[in-house]
Amino acid sequence: MTEPSAAMPWYTCGFSEAMLRLLKGHTVHSHAAHLLPYLQPGQRVLDFGCGPGTISVGLAKAIAPGELHGIDMKQAQIDLARSVAEAADQGNATFHLGDVINLPFNDHYFDIAHGHSILTYVPDTQAALAEVRRVLKPGGLISVREGIIGSSFLAPDFEMLGDAWVTFAELITADGGHPHIGRDLKRHLLEAGFTDLRPTASYTSHTTPEEVAFFWTVIRDWFLSPAVREAATEYGVVSHRHLDNLERAFEQWRNHPGAFSAFAYGECLGSKPPR
Ligand SMILES: C[S@@+](CC[C@H](N)C(=O)[O-])C[C@H]1O[C@@H](n2cnc3c(N)ncnc32)[C@H](O)[C@@H]1O
Repeated sequence: MTEPSAAMPWYTCGFSEAMLRLLKGHTVHSHAAHLLPYLQPGQRVLDFGCGPGTISVGLAKAIAPGELHGIDMKQAQIDLARSVAEAADQGNATFHLGDVINLPFNDHYFDIAHGHSILTYVPDTQAALAEVRRVLKPGGLISVREGIIGSSFLAPDFEMLGDAWVTFAELITADGGHPHIGRDLKRHLLEAGFTDLRPTASYTSHTTPEEVAFFWTVIRDWFLSPAVREAATEYGVVSHRHLDNLERAFEQWRNHPGAFSAFAYGECLGSKPPR
């Protein structure tokens, strides 16, 4: 199977080594804690937009001997997820190349469908949710967790670093995505026909000197990389000069003993109505 047409350069985060370093730190405990109480051995679970599969493997462990299916539009992510599952000896995890808009599964197949940081990048939210709803069993559970760029922050801000979040949000918007969709998950699930909606919000932080140093390397190697700089200036969302100023402010931030970053997320659980 070839990669779906969604797998085009307009997936804002891209697949650089730096971005993958960040994603590989995601676990079911750190990034899907809201879903953990609902996982039971023997369930059939979908992880849509599974990326490198580190969350998927935790889901697979929690529902063993049930089936975990991860799908992603990018073959390299599927390969990575398979190797992560193999290293964890998680034989009940299977990974598929596919588009969330056209899932390769029969109707009513899953007990639970979970997506983390994918609706942000999919232009047609309702088309994605309708497809996820199709593959859920009646009474099945949907779980989504998405970023809220506009509520994320770096401190100290040096009266400047807020601009980096604005630039990131504008890049996502220019790519057809939804940078603050974590705020609106309840509304979107409601519109897609899910019931019993349970929205929450949370932050993922970088706090210790090691975590701050790590986050800085991701900023340096991803956000400040030539590729992202080029996209940002081409889209006209920011000038080279402003990016140079941001780079200096980021340097100050990573050397500051009070440095702290917090990425905001919204989560929502919902049920597909029983037949
Ligand atoms: C930010 S990553 C999140 C990965 C993983 N869920 C995590 O949080 O660790 C987003 C992933 O969604 C995938 N993706 C984006 N649009 C997609 C689509 N239309 N269908 C399937 N996967 C998609 C990307 O390839 C990427 O791997």
